Amino acid sequence: MTQNPEKEWFGEKQVEAEEKTRLVRGVFDSVADKYDLMNDLMSGGLHRLWKDRLIRMIRPRPGLHYLDVAGGTGDIAFRIKQAAGTGSQITVLDLNEDMLGVGRDRAINRGWLNDFEWITGNAEALPLLDESVDIYTIAFGLRNVTHIDTALSEAFRVLKPGGKFYCMEFSHVEEPFLAKIYDAYSNNVIPRIGQAVAKDKDSYQYLVESIRKFPTQKELVRRMKTAGFENARFTNLNFGVVAIHQGWKL
Ligand SMILES: C[S@@+](CC[C@H](N)C(=O)[O-])C[C@H]1O[C@@H](n2cnc3c(N)ncnc32)[C@H](O)[C@@H]1O
Repeated sequence: MTQNPEKEWFGEKQVEAEEKTRLVRGVFDSVADKYDLMNDLMSGGLHRLWKDRLIRMIRPRPGLHYLDVAGGTGDIAFRIKQAAGTGSQITVLDLNEDMLGVGRDRAINRGWLNDFEWITGNAEALPLLDESVDIYTIAFGLRNVTHIDTALSEAFRVLKPGGKFYCMEFSHVEEPFLAKIYDAYSNNVIPRIGQAVAKDKDSYQYLVESIRKFPTQKELVRRMKTAGFENARFTNLNFGVVAIHQGWKL
């Protein structure tokens, strides 16, 4: 299979690879201030349970360097901090300054400014040294990246030997009857909530379409292995509405 086959897709539209990154930044510019409210509305609060599950799998502890890529408003990073306690280094990286700005303000409000580093950057070209990170997370982010295989290679590069990669992403419901119900919900309900609350139907239409284009659970495992990860595997949540992939750099 060709490397990076999704480079021309922006939802259902075909675009030049360079344009996709710009368009994705635009999507999150327009939703940054409503992002967390929209997550609750669209998932019926389920995203909190999914994220809790991810944190239980990671079992954060102090003394490690955590890198949360596509970290947006800091939701995953804050959960890592809460679970790990003091004495960790947490780097939040995102393409979009508006999303990071919301997160940074929130960290200041919690008195956590010194625990975090906020970096504007691209998952495909991480501004971090080789083998400098213990735990890499990317939650609801890999789907938006133009070149998934490049992002996986970058994750592998920055992880220390013994470090671990986690990706949480909307995935594919494998049970046909439930898949139909989920499809109907995604097509009809999510863009309407987007219109009603964020006044931005197109961004949420993009979200639905990008989920459909994302590799299947098994395909992503295959691509993780190609990037060098060992023991790559996935866990489905809610029948595959969301999947958590994990792998080791050994
Ligand atoms: C759906 S949000 C997820 C935010 C957060 N991880 C969470 O779970 O709440 C997706 C984020 O990915 C970021 N993003 C998209 N493409 C990216 C890239 N190539 N590199 C870094 N961040 C990217 C967007 O700016 C956005 O903040």
